[in-house]
Amino acid sequence: MNEKNLVVALDIGTTKVCTTIGYHDQNDFEIIGVGSHPSYGLKKGSVVNIDKTVKSIHCSLEDAKLMAGVSEVHSATIGIAGNHIYCFNSSGVVAIKGKEITEADVNRVLEAAKAVLIPSDREVLHVIPQEFRVDSTTGVKNPVGMCGSRLEAHVHIVTGKTPLIQNILKCVEAAGIEANDIILQPIASSRSVLTDEEKDLGVVLIDVGGGTTDIAVWKEGSLIHSQIIPVGGNHFTNDLAVALKIPHNEAERVKINHGSVLSERLNQQSHITVHGLSGTKAREVRLGQVAEVLGARAEELFSIIKKQIDERNLGDFITGGYIITGGGALVKDLAELGEYILEKPTKVGYPRPFGGMTTVMQNPKFATVLGLLLESNKENNGTLAPKKKTSKNMGENLEGDLFTRFSSSLRNVFKEIF
Ligand SMILES: Nc1ncnc2c1ncn2[C@@H]1O[C@H](COP(=O)(O)OP(=O)(O)OP(=O)(O)O)[C@@H](O)[C@H]1O
Ligand SMILES: [Mg+2]
Repeated sequence: MNEKNLVVALDIGTTKVCTTIGYHDQNDFEIIGVGSHPSYGLKKGSVVNIDKTVKSIHCSLEDAKLMAGVSEVHSATIGIAGNHIYCFNSSGVVAIKGKEITEADVNRVLEAAKAVLIPSDREVLHVIPQEFRVDSTTGVKNPVGMCGSRLEAHVHIVTGKTPLIQNILKCVEAAGIEANDIILQPIASSRSVLTDEEKDLGVVLIDVGGGTTDIAVWKEGSLIHSQIIPVGGNHFTNDLAVALKIPHNEAERVKINHGSVLSERLNQQSHITVHGLSGTKAREVRLGQVAEVLGARAEELFSIIKKQIDERNLGDFITGGYIITGGGALVKDLAELGEYILEKPTKVGYPRPFGGMTTVMQNPKFATVLGLLLESNKENNGTLAPKKKTSKNMGENLEGDLFTRFSSSLRNVFKEIF
């Protein structure tokens, strides 16, 4: 097996750390290794315990390597989220020097769009072009080769707190690998779950993880808004633990095996047995009570999302509705309740199958890691992608797509720091 043909993705989540290894040749791309390990070192998407996080990364990496029959993995594409992430839209304008717009002009206008004041403790993670305007022509996706005198870029900028990004990178490096790219988790999940048609039509991807819910709003193929909401599946579990006075593990079992967010759908006479702390007697609780607790939290989550969408006047863009993914999407009847509160078509989104993918991987909780793998493969394969960054070629003006190039620039900053 040629090591150059391997691509690796690492999703460091609040409940699990997951590594996938893909192998590509000229025609095919397939998943050859997967490792998933419980995560104990993160809270709401941010690292709070470096040692525990490194251990989880190490275990998931070793499992994936073992499955793939690979002895060494040097680098991986990493996902990032956490409630320190802040995103906004910006724009820039430049005059065209020659007759035809060149790559250099595009770089200049993106630099101009990026030139906004951000707090000194923040770093730009992505500068994602939404559209270019050449004189009076709007909606241009790639202006290179067009003629004009004025080039305008509209971009979506993703920033994160420097120390918190550093913590993730430190953990990755301590586990013996380099981050060859850092990608915002809902962007990665969108990559594996959404179709181009959905992104064109206008949809909101909602990734309900353990610690956070990440949203990405797409319209005309571009990301127009992204946001991390500090409520996730763990809050549903904690609510059950508190309401039923049961340990967290038992609440998680009840949520997964018996949970629903619509109590009206349940037989009001149905009961389940729950186990309290050791030494206490098992009790019967109404299934309706479980659904009421989970339903209240789901209602709160969808109300927060609706408020964020309404406040930004994004409602009219969302013709295609809402697509819920992440492990938290598996709570029964969540999409039905979502559709009622969000007042748009809502469904659960599963990662699209691709080479070597088993049905086990076609689970919303693997949406992020599979999206990271697809992004990582695009880098290695592609006409669109930059050459892999090394300390030797750092600072060169690498060819590549703008999205990846700018996220790569952050990686370089950190390589220089460490
Ligand atoms: N079958 C299921 N039914 C209900 N909930 C589930 C199911 N499977 C997983 N979950 C919930 O999904 C959540 C974890 O989702 P996921 O694996 O996407 O999170 P993560 O990536 O580790 O966290 P984050 O993205 O917030 O950092 C947990 O709260 C878990 O209880
Ligand atoms: Mg996640």
